Amino acid sequence: MSEPQSPPDETLDPLSELLELSAALGAHLEAVQRSGAVGLPPASAEAWQALERSSRGAPPAGAPSAASREPQAAPRVGTRPAAAPRAGAPPAAAAPPGAPALSGATPRATAPPAVAAPAPAPSGSPEQAPRARAEGLAVLADRVRDCQKCGLARTRTQTVFARGTGTSGLCFVGEGPGADEDAQGFPFVGKAGQLLDRMIEAMGFSRDEVYVCNIVKCRPPDNRKPEPEEMSQCVPYLAEQLALVEPQVIVALGATAVQGLLGATGGITRLRGNWRLYQGKIPVMPTFHPAYLLRTPSAKREVWDDLQAVLRQMGRPTPTRS
Ligand code: URA
Repeated sequence: MSEPQSPPDETLDPLSELLELSAALGAHLEAVQRSGAVGLPPASAEAWQALERSSRGAPPAGAPSAASREPQAAPRVGTRPAAAPRAGAPPAAAAPPGAPALSGATPRATAPPAVAAPAPAPSGSPEQAPRARAEGLAVLADRVRDCQKCGLARTRTQTVFARGTGTSGLCFVGEGPGADEDAQGFPFVGKAGQLLDRMIEAMGFSRDEVYVCNIVKCRPPDNRKPEPEEMSQCVPYLAEQLALVEPQVIVALGATAVQGLLGATGGITRLRGNWRLYQGKIPVMPTFHPAYLLRTPSAKREVWDDLQAVLRQMGRPTPTRS
């Protein structure tokens, strides 16, 4: 009778056994890391090299390669770790369960994109301290005040930079100052601004905690639409503003705001209600301009739908309209 065959692993010498155990442990650690667990060190490349050097042959099959032990890929867009809350800001809210992730394309407002953590910060930078943010904005406002980059400088009374702190994470961007704004130096202080204020309040925010600004900072004569050249000279200021304010969500009021923020042209009727991303990071909801709502009150229904989508995106309650 022949001797029964020993299982292969029982024939291993202690070093081979150690190599096999290490391979199994490495594979396990990789699987745990891939599952999203944090706080685990990657399997050490040095440890593997030391084992390999001391072994008689190649590392056992299944040993993780150096490349496969690289840190896991960056989180998907819109899932950056929760930012530190700002002074006066509401606590970060989790995404509604089951909501899809934001992509560069445009989910409908009726199927809102959601972010696991609310505010996609520009370039993953640490949260700006409120004072540094305020100082940066003050310096920028001074630069804008002296701006002579386009012909609007010759006809303006003054530049119109912004209003509100933005501590809520919500930012509205309009087209450009009108006569009232040009006279007072603040955006959205005329009739359209009063309607915007009612929209902000209906959303559950106070006027001051929302950041409000425009694509162009000077009034176009006769309230005409800003020229492409005027917009392109002014949009870099807006980019600097938004980088400092770090809004969680931007609402683009009207077609000019959508064009200035996203480069998207076309009728606002087609654009509204579709999520976009500003600079690939910040969710933008295009909607009708309040001045249009003053002329067409029946469109308030659609705007309210869009603003409710914004609230859902921000993890805020969606009040019912009275
Ligand atoms: N319309 C705008 O687009 N911006 C203002 O500031 C006022 C009216």
